[in-house]
Amino acid sequence: MEETLETGTPGGLGRRRGGKPIDFVGLEGSSASPPRRTTGIMELDRVCGGGLVPGSAILMGGDPGIGKSTLVLQAVAALDRDDKSAGPCIYISGEESVDQVRLRARRLGIGGADVRLAAATSVRDILASLDHRDVPRVVVIDSIQTMFLDSLESAPGTVAQVRASAQELIRLAKARGFSIILVGHVTKDGAIAGPKVLEHMVDTVLYFEGERGHQFRILRAVKNRFGPTDEIGVFEMTDGGLVEVANPSSLFLTERHGQVSGAAVFAGLEGTRPILVEIQALVSPSPLGTPRRAVVGWDSARLAMVLAVLEARCGMVLAGKDVYLNIAGGLRVSEPAADLAVATALVSAVSDRPAPGHTVVFGEIGLSGEVRAVSQSDLRLKEAAKLGFTGAWIPPRRGRDAGRPRDSGLEVQEIGHLQDLVALISDPAAPAWSGRAC
Ligand code: TYD
Ligand code: MG
Repeated sequence: MEETLETGTPGGLGRRRGGKPIDFVGLEGSSASPPRRTTGIMELDRVCGGGLVPGSAILMGGDPGIGKSTLVLQAVAALDRDDKSAGPCIYISGEESVDQVRLRARRLGIGGADVRLAAATSVRDILASLDHRDVPRVVVIDSIQTMFLDSLESAPGTVAQVRASAQELIRLAKARGFSIILVGHVTKDGAIAGPKVLEHMVDTVLYFEGERGHQFRILRAVKNRFGPTDEIGVFEMTDGGLVEVANPSSLFLTERHGQVSGAAVFAGLEGTRPILVEIQALVSPSPLGTPRRAVVGWDSARLAMVLAVLEARCGMVLAGKDVYLNIAGGLRVSEPAADLAVATALVSAVSDRPAPGHTVVFGEIGLSGEVRAVSQSDLRLKEAAKLGFTGAWIPPRRGRDAGRPRDSGLEVQEIGHLQDLVALISDPAAPAWSGRAC
């Protein structure tokens, strides 16, 4: 015991004491909010919390082919317009040749932007080049998995290389005060290190996602030391590159040809922004011993829960039936507030009766079948009214909100329990159903 005390932890401080005392300060003080450099791509700026912060590191992750290179190239080209007197915007590609990037820029209509371009993969060379010239405004590394440090034995793309390369690049960005954007591929097979190994090293983590077959792409902040993390930016993929979508609700509502059974419109919230999406369900007899449950865009465990509650509390028979659930437009919904809209689509599909048209639905479902209040219901209702909806099925208001008049202009139906929902859909004489069919 005595010996341990004397020698200390192996590799620790050892016997030598001392060290420079650090200064502690109070929480209050004059720390200005960080300056921002807007890219001019509003959706990107909002997701970053108002623009790029000089000296900060951003990780942009996403599946290969999703559009990361296109987005960052468009962003650096747009930054060029911002402030001519500031340093250069630099794009370093480790995957594509200079010619390929130039060709892409021309196709995107940004061939004239003053972006300093290079194809390089050696971190030592990159650091040497960035250390001497003017302080850049922004440096893009596309992708971090192609970068390597010659001091390490391992191949590019391995955890050690990705981590060490990122560390060196981020250190220089902080020291010289430029923003750095590291592009990282999400990898499924794990042969090369994915963005996960970098998440703790950077200030902001953005993921670019979307269904391959859809033209919509969503930029989502999952970590942000300089802003909120629940914001999303919505883009549409076109031949001319990514185009911002200012009003995403109109995009996620599919063409609605009259009323069909098995569909409901969910008034959701992504960050500060309300988004209406259509939820579609299909229920059919299953030829399989274990019926199929397939979900696109929602959590399958959550679907299993809603199905179980419908069976246990409302007596619906779903055993022996295949259930398919789809969020239209390729959006991924993660809010529990979607429960009631999912249940509406399911009940409508099972009973083959359409839910009322022009009505939005939201509410969380508890295991006993009760419908619980969700946040920001006024914001959701306002968005629905703005887009021409006339009705809403929502949880009962409790506490100080109960009885307060709403000024959304919508015909609001409060639903306290799933049984009420089933009754509303299956009984055409119910007041909430009739008289509002459109
Ligand atoms: P790319 O930006 O190269 O994806 P990543 O860097 O994530 O691997 O885009 C993949 C392909 O999609 C590329 O061939 C260009 C094409 N594309 C468009 O045609 N329009 C667009 O708006 C985007 C984003 C991509
Ligand atoms: Mg790329």
